[in-house]
Amino acid sequence: MGGSAVVTSAAGTPGPSPADSDLVRAARGLPVSRTPVWFMRQAGRSLPEYRALRAGTAMLAACQDPDLVTEITLQPVRRHGVDAAILFSDIVLPLVVAGVDIEIKPGVGPVVAEPVRSVADVDALPPLEPERLAFLETAVRRLVAELGPTPLIGFAGAPFTLATYLIEGGPSKEHARTKAFMYAEPEAWGRLLDRLAISAAVFLRAQVDAGASAVQLFDSWAGVLSAADYAERVLPHSRAVFDGLGDRNVPRIHFGVGTGELLPLIGDAGADVVGVDWRLPLDEAARRVGPQRSLQGNLDPAVLLADRATVDREVRRVVEQGRAARGHVFNLGHGVLPDTDPGVLTHVAELVHELTTSPARPTAPMP
Ligand code: CP3
Repeated sequence: MGGSAVVTSAAGTPGPSPADSDLVRAARGLPVSRTPVWFMRQAGRSLPEYRALRAGTAMLAACQDPDLVTEITLQPVRRHGVDAAILFSDIVLPLVVAGVDIEIKPGVGPVVAEPVRSVADVDALPPLEPERLAFLETAVRRLVAELGPTPLIGFAGAPFTLATYLIEGGPSKEHARTKAFMYAEPEAWGRLLDRLAISAAVFLRAQVDAGASAVQLFDSWAGVLSAADYAERVLPHSRAVFDGLGDRNVPRIHFGVGTGELLPLIGDAGADVVGVDWRLPLDEAARRVGPQRSLQGNLDPAVLLADRATVDREVRRVVEQGRAARGHVFNLGHGVLPDTDPGVLTHVAELVHELTTSPARPTAPMP
């Protein structure tokens, strides 16, 4: 299942397997029955059923409990009718599993007990042993069985974004320490990102081999870099993560925030789909990325806090501008904000489907 399944049905139209779903097809630039939609951070605090289930369990403990992972991942699929599930996990989990002391503080984010500040700190980082990922394989296998034709997206944090947490010791705005380390210790920087790329690839391979139908690499904070620095000091390591998937036949999504100037480069790293935040209209993003790649995005998550007329107008605009892309996966430009009314998310998924279901599209093979 998953990685090795055929991509197109005999009829050349979407069929009832995840490898032939609208998500996978849009990611590859193939015709779809309607524009697929899912939401980054769809599993999480906007859902009361999530808050109930998570009560009393720390975030990173929940991520390692196959029962909780399965149930939390399924919640938004049941509720919103989205076209994909995304594994409930976190970008810092591979580091935690390898033995790095990290905690996710509620309302703050990942906090690292001993930040990486020297060449010796880089060399002391423990590698991720694939044998430690049995809990993840169990959760993914269960999910794939439960999800049936709905694809599961596996994910990992990109080397740069993970490096910002390790070096800053927690969330930061300017990422000044990270950049200072990048400039002052280019060799150790390269080694650090090499190691993070290897661990991200191990983490993604485990998910794909257990049945995930697509992967997303989150380089959330790459937008703080100039194109020149990104190209020289970061992109080769993100490319190494995708290369680490070898010939596993699943679409690759590559996402970052504030990446307007980096979009052509982000595409070059080996993705089938480039994620776009809300700052750039999708037709302009399509021009920058080119016709070889699909786009994912890009409704401003804050719009979901506005009135219904505004939500509808903005959804229509994103759908229209998305038609300029080779393929379009509807999403937000960044994660769901915790205050979002889940009813609005359900409405957006329905509206995207309604706006893009074309009865004129052939549903049977041409004679
Ligand atoms: O999208 C999904 O629904 C799947 C789950 C998912 C989580 N984290 C769960 C989570 C995904 C894809 C992530 C990725 C992630 N984690 C990123 C990249 C995406 C992005 O938003 O840019 C980053 C930067 C992190 C690091 C991280 N983990 C942050 C910044 C936070 C938020 C801290 C806070 O409390 O505001 C977390 C915690 C986290 N990860 C939560 C969830 C559901 C909230 C913790 C909780 O519910 O207690």
